[in-house]
Amino acid sequence: MLDAPTSLESIRRRFSSLQSGFAFLDAPGGSQVPDEVGEAIARAMREASANLGAVYETSLRVKEIVQSAEAKAARFLGCEPHEIVFGANMTSLNFTLSRTAGRDFAPGDEILVSSLDHDGGVAPWLELARDRDLVVRHVELHEDTTLDFDDLAAKLSDRTRVVAFAWASNAVGTVVDAARVCRKAHDVGALAWVDAVHYAAHQAIDVRAVGADVLICSPYKFCGPHLGVAYGRAEVIERWRPYKARPAPSTPLGRRFETGTQAYELLAGLGATFDYLDSIGGFAAITPYERSLAARFLAGIPDAVTVYGLPGLEGRVPTFLINLDGVPAAKVVAHLAERRIGTWAHDSWYALGLYRRLGYEDQAVRIGFVHYNTAEEVDRLLAGLESARTR
Ligand SMILES: Cc1ncc(COP(=O)(O)O)c(C=O)c1O
Repeated sequence: MLDAPTSLESIRRRFSSLQSGFAFLDAPGGSQVPDEVGEAIARAMREASANLGAVYETSLRVKEIVQSAEAKAARFLGCEPHEIVFGANMTSLNFTLSRTAGRDFAPGDEILVSSLDHDGGVAPWLELARDRDLVVRHVELHEDTTLDFDDLAAKLSDRTRVVAFAWASNAVGTVVDAARVCRKAHDVGALAWVDAVHYAAHQAIDVRAVGADVLICSPYKFCGPHLGVAYGRAEVIERWRPYKARPAPSTPLGRRFETGTQAYELLAGLGATFDYLDSIGGFAAITPYERSLAARFLAGIPDAVTVYGLPGLEGRVPTFLINLDGVPAAKVVAHLAERRIGTWAHDSWYALGLYRRLGYEDQAVRIGFVHYNTAEEVDRLLAGLESARTR
């Protein structure tokens, strides 16, 4: 569906925000949203403003919205609907679920996180460790930002309760061999806990194939509303005692871990998001198309650009962290913004372990390509980088 420029045009027409000519190369911070998702949210507010559990029409409509969102999220992740937990965003879900999982951890138990991780995948464990006398250890990276599996093997022990890691880096785009990490975690009886926030925008997920026990993603990174979606393996989460208000129902399983009333209108938007992704051919269409944009970018980058992390297409998603020789990152993004190209400059990108290793001064520029970007936008970016240097 994304292979012909004409079909890309028709996909882009579904986004009002893409009609202005501004090139959004900032999706790692949050993507654009097709109109149909916003319309589904507005429709839910007009036609189904109610809570779950009553017998009249609007409440039954809310029930339908929730069940449909659970079913579609389950299909997206490759699990059962009762293994889905909705929440405000990944970070909130991770705080909640880590606390819940950790209720029976003993002082001295260990949690492994990786130095590639966004802090939303690290801070919840650090806080839990602080309160419960646990130990958090960081699995290190190779020079090229790939995960050091020897270091992982060395740090795993019979005290390891969780191996938590980001499947793809939100800063440099490096992808981790998640199935291999999950196998290693299971070898010592630990839970495999996957932050799929960045990965989920670019490649298909099958939680069973990868062997995750918990996996969390954020639909606002893949054309959906501001929400978090978690998967918890049924055999694991049914053993957990949830933090919940007592009269709240305990079934379906996943809903036990949702606190209070959910944002039903956003769940209606989430359902429309999955329909949108299906309608453009899903990741079978998205992944190779985004790869072609990344290849075009790499083929055209000026010599004065430093790309941090992996130099090529292998082992990455189409997210790039760069600096331009002699031009501060803040100046580069301002120059690009004047040319109606949206990118960001930041220091750590919340990936604190990675930031310490990359060694640039101050800030770097992040560029993220997603399926609604065009080859022409890549060319405009390349021209903008060239002119930022020579100006
Ligand atoms: C890899 C990664 N993990 C976690 C998060 C936190 O997600 P949320 O904003 O849904 O809490 C982000 C946000 O950018 C991210 O990129």
